[in-house]
Amino acid sequence: MTIADVASQPTPDTTTPRSRTASLRRYAMTAPSYFAVEYAINPWMDVTASVDADLAVRQWDELRRTYLSLGHTVDLVEPVGGLPDMVYAANGGLVVGDSAVVARFAYPQRAGEAAAYARWMAAHGFDPVHTEHVNEGQGDLLVAGSIVLAGYGFRTDRRAHDEVERAIGLPLVSLELVDPRFYHLDTALAVLDDTTIAYYPPAFGDDARARIQDLFPDAIEVASADAFVLGLNAVSDGKHVVLPAAATGFAAQLADAGFEPIGVDLSELLKGGGSVKCCTLEVYR
Ligand code: ARG
Repeated sequence: MTIADVASQPTPDTTTPRSRTASLRRYAMTAPSYFAVEYAINPWMDVTASVDADLAVRQWDELRRTYLSLGHTVDLVEPVGGLPDMVYAANGGLVVGDSAVVARFAYPQRAGEAAAYARWMAAHGFDPVHTEHVNEGQGDLLVAGSIVLAGYGFRTDRRAHDEVERAIGLPLVSLELVDPRFYHLDTALAVLDDTTIAYYPPAFGDDARARIQDLFPDAIEVASADAFVLGLNAVSDGKHVVLPAAATGFAAQLADAGFEPIGVDLSELLKGGGSVKCCTLEVYR
């Protein structure tokens, strides 16, 4: 190419954000009918804090209605008494195409959820695979295009990554989490579309950070103020990004990048250490 050719190329437009395309999604959610903070298995949980159970249900329902208003499908999983964390449906497993892996929980308090999510999978025509090692479903296993980003360090056992890879047939990229406040991958990284992610770099080990930079050179780096309101615990359809309303800095970054942020308030569910994404199990087609 000569200088003249270069000069005749249109000037790249850096002022108008890229336009983004939404695709219709299918989600599964579990109502917080039995939600409470009865034990503390992550640093966000304080058993002495009071939880407004009715408000938790209303906030959760607002999230469900937000998805419906965007045209998405929401399947409901039957909540089970005595399993107060079951509202965090993302942890129930990983469903991609015809394959489903059901969770094996790290803590005994949540172990009973696995059977409930396996029943839901079976009722929807899946034959769920059980892993030998701990895997906490989409809390730690996030599909990004044709790969799965897989967290380990606090909950999901790295050895489960190979089991999940075999079960679903997509390559996994293992990423080490190093800060207990960001104990699941979905608290520190959000997949925005097949090639775009946002993340909080300090939550990751050095190798994981290098791997993320390599795979996603355009990744959005989120500031501490947004990370500490679980702003990255967000759900994107490729255009609309449903995220905790308090993450205003991240919302501005998303808008600059051409996404449409939609803030929701899940203050009560944050007391259990989860937010938007935790409450949402995506059924990937
Ligand atoms: N209290 C739950 C736990 O500690 C919160 C789970 C949040 N879920 C998530 N996908 N990050 O297990």
